[in-house]
Amino acid sequence: MKPFLVEEGISNEMLSGIEQHGYYIHRDIINISDAAALRALMEIRYDQDQFKKAGIGKGVSFSINEEIRKDSILWIEETSSSPILASYSSHIDGLISLLNRHFFLPLKDKELMFAIYEKGSYYRKHRDRFAKQQHRFFTIILYLTDWQKGDGGELMIYTDQGEVKVEPHQGSFVIFTSETEHEVLPVFARRYSITGWITDVPIGLTFL
Ligand code: OGA
Ligand code: NI
Repeated sequence: MKPFLVEEGISNEMLSGIEQHGYYIHRDIINISDAAALRALMEIRYDQDQFKKAGIGKGVSFSINEEIRKDSILWIEETSSSPILASYSSHIDGLISLLNRHFFLPLKDKELMFAIYEKGSYYRKHRDRFAKQQHRFFTIILYLTDWQKGDGGELMIYTDQGEVKVEPHQGSFVIFTSETEHEVLPVFARRYSITGWITDVPIGLTFL
């Protein structure tokens, strides 16, 4: 996997995208065969029933509400089982350093999860930075679906400059500030992604 996010051209484009609009989209951050390999990895775990219905909130405020979101998730605890996953994870670590240097931020860690949306699923308009738990600074998503027009599941990002529709093509990547409102439109074909957050606390200590 190319060191996509710290490559000179891409990182400058990304930093100025975040600075000016609060988000950045890259259409092909990993190639199709890497995306297919990650998708296969997800499928194995999904078929083994390792995924669970995603909820709203965290800790004691956690609840499952299918009116708001209808995806299934699996937290990624370790990345060593797959070289591609390990590589993605280390590129995100590079991204954390880059964001810290550029924006003078105290970012420390990331949390990553696999997410699958079956046909009929969606995630209504929301923010990822919780009122009572403000540790998520950036949302990062790597899309893995072999996506075609008509498959639905586009990500809508709402900023004060307007709205953007992101097509979840396999191998594409999006980053936005976690207080940004966003939504996943209804899905018509199974949708795969690795969704994550960059936090200012080490993960595992977020309930302290
Ligand atoms: C989320 C989310 C967007 C997407 O998981 O919080 O908003 O495009 N995901 O998968
Ligand atoms: Ni979200």
